Amino acid sequence: MSVFPPEFLWGAATAAHQVEGNNVNSDLWVLEHVQPTLFAEPSLDACDHYHRFREDIRMLADLGLNTYRFSIEWSRIEPERHHFSLAELDHYRRMLAACHENGVTPMVTLYHFSSPRWFAAAGGWEKAANADLFVRYCERAARHLGDLIGMASTFNEPNLPMQLRWISNVDIPATTVLRTGRQAAKAVGSGSFGCFFLGDAHKLQDAMIAAHHRARAAIKSGPGDYPVGVNISLQDEQAVGPKSKRDKKCAEVYDPWLAAAAQSDFLGVQTYTRCRVGKGGDLGPEPGIELTQMGYEFWPEALETCLRYAAERASVPIYVTENGVSTEDDTRRIEYIRRALAGVLNCLASGIDVRGYIHWSLLDNFEWIMGYRPKFGLVGVNHQTQERTIKPSAYYLGEIARGNWIPDSGGRSEGGG
Ligand code: GCO
Repeated sequence: MSVFPPEFLWGAATAAHQVEGNNVNSDLWVLEHVQPTLFAEPSLDACDHYHRFREDIRMLADLGLNTYRFSIEWSRIEPERHHFSLAELDHYRRMLAACHENGVTPMVTLYHFSSPRWFAAAGGWEKAANADLFVRYCERAARHLGDLIGMASTFNEPNLPMQLRWISNVDIPATTVLRTGRQAAKAVGSGSFGCFFLGDAHKLQDAMIAAHHRARAAIKSGPGDYPVGVNISLQDEQAVGPKSKRDKKCAEVYDPWLAAAAQSDFLGVQTYTRCRVGKGGDLGPEPGIELTQMGYEFWPEALETCLRYAAERASVPIYVTENGVSTEDDTRRIEYIRRALAGVLNCLASGIDVRGYIHWSLLDNFEWIMGYRPKFGLVGVNHQTQERTIKPSAYYLGEIARGNWIPDSGGRSEGGG
């Protein structure tokens, strides 16, 4: 198969904390400003997308993309517990309207790693009863925005804390993490600081799976009639040696969430690389293989493997909601996109129900603890002037989206788009 289905969604993604700027009520803002901090630098103005969303969405549409995946920020919408800001809800209505004005389907994530600082002060996800607070936020947001939403996800990569437990190349000392957590708790005047990144992964998993199902029902009770799913972080896990822990890892990190996705309207698959797993856990990159700025192996073929793995466990429509590469060399991004999409075509040819490809990311942005150094954007951002520069990879993906096929794959005889 060389062409994508006619209704295929083509897009790019961002997340509120990574692009909006001045997300001062969030737990991450607190963590960025305590000493010691785990963050290479603070987010500050980010891409000022909070004010520039109109130009950014128009740019996405002009490139030929028809879908924008972004997140709405709980800590803006509910800056103090029980206080919902109508002004901020209206801000997100304007963003959704801007999508529709440009013929773009808005794909909304309700939770992309950041929580209000008061939620962290209240113990965060580790306290199971706190899920009520999240469900209520979802209900409130969906009631205000639902008529304009195209698709929604409760959580972005809620399996990440579990996945991080396996990663071998994290070199942050546990004592620094503890001290950061203590300083953050002090900063919010609490005895604890329940942040998504720092919590007990097992407790978090149970609480968030339960919260996902409840939040999904709450979202669907509001106006609009759109699919509600969840976006899971997947890697192409490859067993090395006879005693590899690969299956144990998959059972712990992926399967519980794929089971939850199977009871939802769709699954979002988010993939960047492969991972070799030996008898002691993750082995790290294989020597000699090209690495990205994140230290990941350059491995676009991971997308096909992950889609196949996911499709076997969740027979719901699948959207690639993140896939991309951090590099200063945009020709590598083009190569990455080309090979990743060839994998999507293989999956479609095997009858897997893949319905869209949303690239991470629209903009070069704040890559969490790594700060602004990793460049994932189809569009460059000068963080001094906020000037946007469209990269060749953006035009390349736009051309694919317009033509619904990969131009140099030999799929058609005439020229593109
Ligand atoms: C994640 C997030 C994104 C990241 C992206 C690149 O996977 O951590 O969903 O916010 O920026 O994946 O690492």
